[in-house]
Amino acid sequence: MLETEILGMKLSNPLFLAAGILGTTSSSMKMVARAGAGGIVTKSFSIEPNNGYDNPTIVKIEGGVINSVGLASPGVEAKKEELKDLNEIRDKTPVIASIYGDTEEVFCDVANRTKEYVDAFELNVSCPHAKCGFGSNIGEDPDLTYDIVSAVKNEIKDVPIVVKLTPNVTDITKIAKSAEDAGADALTLINSVGPGLRIDYKTGKPILNHILGGIAGPMIKPIALKCVYQTYKTVDIPLFGVGGIRNYKDALEFLYAGASLLQIGTSIMYEGPSIFKTISDDLAKFLEENGYKNVSEIVGLSHRL
Ligand SMILES: Cc1cc2nc3c(=O)[nH]c(=O)nc-3n(C[C@H](O)[C@H](O)[C@H](O)COP(=O)(O)O)c2cc1C
Repeated sequence: MLETEILGMKLSNPLFLAAGILGTTSSSMKMVARAGAGGIVTKSFSIEPNNGYDNPTIVKIEGGVINSVGLASPGVEAKKEELKDLNEIRDKTPVIASIYGDTEEVFCDVANRTKEYVDAFELNVSCPHAKCGFGSNIGEDPDLTYDIVSAVKNEIKDVPIVVKLTPNVTDITKIAKSAEDAGADALTLINSVGPGLRIDYKTGKPILNHILGGIAGPMIKPIALKCVYQTYKTVDIPLFGVGGIRNYKDALEFLYAGASLLQIGTSIMYEGPSIFKTISDDLAKFLEENGYKNVSEIVGLSHRL
C-alpha cells in the first residue's frame, strides 16, 4: 500500500527522517530506520568540521521550536565513516546525504568524497541560521541556486540530486524553477522559517545564544503546504514535503498538495521515533478505507478537484 519507487530508491513507505534531527551518527540513523522510517536524510555536513553556535541553540515555542544549531557537523571525513556504517541498511532504508557549502567547488568536493555511500544528495541551500554564510543566501537567489545545482549535476552523474529550498523568499516557485532548470531531480520544501526570536520574559535577554534561529514544527505547516502546493504547479520533478508533520492527517495534506515523499523533523522530539510507524500504519489504513490502492493516487489530489 505505501511502497513506492522514486529517484531509483525502493521505499517501504514515503516517510523520511528530515535533516538535522537524529541524523548525526550511524547508530541514531539506524535506530530511526528500525523504528520504521522509509528513508533517512542525514544532518547537513560540509568539508570542514563546524562547531555551530554556542548553547543554548534550541528553544521551545508554541507549536514548535526555534533552533540556531548553525549547521554544526563533524566534516566530510568523519561523516564518511558514519555513512559507510549505514551501507547495511541502505537496501531497505535508502540514505540521502544533506550537504552544504559556500561555493560550487565545495559542494562538488563533498559530493565526490561521499557519493558511493549514498542513494541521493540533498543540497542544503536554505538554512536560515547557517554559520559562515553557507545558508539561505544561496537559496534566496535563483541565479546562485542555478549555478550550484548545475555544477553538482555536471560533476555527479549517477546519484540523484535533491535541492532543499527556503520558504523565506517572495516567490518560492522562481527558485524551484531555477533548480529544476539546472537539473535537480527533486526538491525538498521547506527548510525552517524565519529566522525568529524568543526573549526571556523575566530578564529581557534573548534565549538563544545566537539570538535568532529557524522556526520549525506544526506552526509552520501552513507555510510548508503553500510552498508545496504552488511548486507542484510549477515544476515536473517530485517533491518532498516537510514542515510540521505530526500525524497521518498532516501527511495526507502534503500528499494532496503535491508531495510524493515526506520528511519528519521536530515532531520526533515530541513523539519519539515511533512516529514513523504510527503515521505509516494510520496512512495505510486511511488509504485502504477510502478505496485507494497506493499513495501515488492521492499525490496532487487538491489540484484535480
Ligand atoms: C534542531 C534542528 C536542526 C536542523 N538541522 C538541519 C540541517 O542540518 N539541515 C537542513 O537542511 N535542515 C535542518 N533542519 C530543518 C529540518 O530538516 C526541516 O526542514 C524543518 O525543521 C521543518 O520540518 P519539521 O517541522 O518537521 O521540523 C533542522 C531543524 C531543526 C529543528
